Amino acid sequence: MTGARTAPAPVVPGPHLTGPFAPVVAEVDVADLPVVGELPADLDGAYVRNGPNPRFSPLGSYVFPIDGDGMLHRVMLAEGRARYDNRFVRTPMVRAEEEAGHAIWPGGLNAWRPGADEVGPELAGTRRQLPDVNVVRHHGRLLALAECDPPYRMGPQLETLDQETFGDALPAGICAHPKTDPRTGEMLAFSYTFEPPYLTWTTIRPDGTGTPPRPVPGIERPSMIHDMAITPRYVVLVVAPLYFDVAAATTGGSLLSWLPDDGTRIALVSRDGSRVRWCTDEAFWLWHTVNAHDQGDRVVLDYVEWARPAELSPGPPVQPRLARAVLDPVTGRVTRRTLVDDLPAEFPRIDDRLLGSPHAVSASVTRSGRALPHPGCWDALAWYDTRTDDVTHWTPDDLALGEAVFAPDPRGEGPDTGWWLVLGTRFSSGESSLFVLPAADPAGGPVATVGLPVRVPLGLHGSWLPA
Ligand SMILES: [Fe+2]
Repeated sequence: MTGARTAPAPVVPGPHLTGPFAPVVAEVDVADLPVVGELPADLDGAYVRNGPNPRFSPLGSYVFPIDGDGMLHRVMLAEGRARYDNRFVRTPMVRAEEEAGHAIWPGGLNAWRPGADEVGPELAGTRRQLPDVNVVRHHGRLLALAECDPPYRMGPQLETLDQETFGDALPAGICAHPKTDPRTGEMLAFSYTFEPPYLTWTTIRPDGTGTPPRPVPGIERPSMIHDMAITPRYVVLVVAPLYFDVAAATTGGSLLSWLPDDGTRIALVSRDGSRVRWCTDEAFWLWHTVNAHDQGDRVVLDYVEWARPAELSPGPPVQPRLARAVLDPVTGRVTRRTLVDDLPAEFPRIDDRLLGSPHAVSASVTRSGRALPHPGCWDALAWYDTRTDDVTHWTPDDLALGEAVFAPDPRGEGPDTGWWLVLGTRFSSGESSLFVLPAADPAGGPVATVGLPVRVPLGLHGSWLPA
């Protein structure tokens, strides 16, 4: 499988490569951005966000949200002023393609690999690395994260440095949604592989070194797992029946199969390494957790429930809903319920200082119900209060919105005091802005809107990095 003669064909751009999703190429650095309203003086730091942004027109396949190249977008806020820059995460694949002037590697669901005659011996037979899902900071390192790979460390100018293996402890990498325990500074992570033991977990210490990956026993075939949760006692891993079948993929079949008869299993992995407890229920899928906490002997897991992984398993439309599962590690029983019946929701976030503890408020993207000019977009935000079951909405006009992240007020009293930051792009003009919404009254709209110099394609996850 070498040479351009056998390379996969260009992808016909679909909804996730056009409109507000269309990738951008320009990398810029612009200071003194226009601000409508007033940036809070105490908002001192940077909001950085990752997302799929293929450097060249994709080949073979393109599946959102699991394909693309990573691009980081950063809005730096200090003393009431704002600055923006953006950079590709330059993997060896992106560098080789920039040298060639066109895409070489196909999308993730395509089994074709380039040969040495095309990319040289070091990259021959490799797949495209995809550090385009998330970006977090731990032990002072800014990490662009892939689904399961060593993340890329990014420099102060967002330049791409090396892949991070956490003191050589984790050469196979970690997931895109590690969770940092605010009580201990440890970053917990998992990783899945196509070979036994299929699923491992690890603790990355506050000094940035990792513990060797520990197998999660009881896994008989490789499953896709996107997110996780933590409590003071457990790492919570939801293993849904979305299986990888590498043999099928190499003969033209599907790499991923959804087999709901197998049900969904949830591993409660004791963080002290002593044991793993399994809870079992009917099949459901989640891309994202909201949070988890210990409640007596049980574990409460909040998450966004899908009847099946819609993007990866064709079928009738399904709507994601905020949900809660109470897990009993002794009996293995799962008690699930939807938290808000009529609220489509995704990209849930909380005040990250409450990870592993009961939280009061979560923010999610949602849909207003209006007809949108482009498919696959979210045009409103919703805040769900776990104490009252109340839902608050912000439904602006003409905006495709991304994930909201929480920036705490350093002078505020207690958790949930601060601002929600969200990037949005106007359907009508393609202009992108950062909106700063006060946590005390987000439905009232932004206290500040920062105009950005380039369009920010709709993307995935990000972090607030206090100065
Ligand atoms: Fe995600």
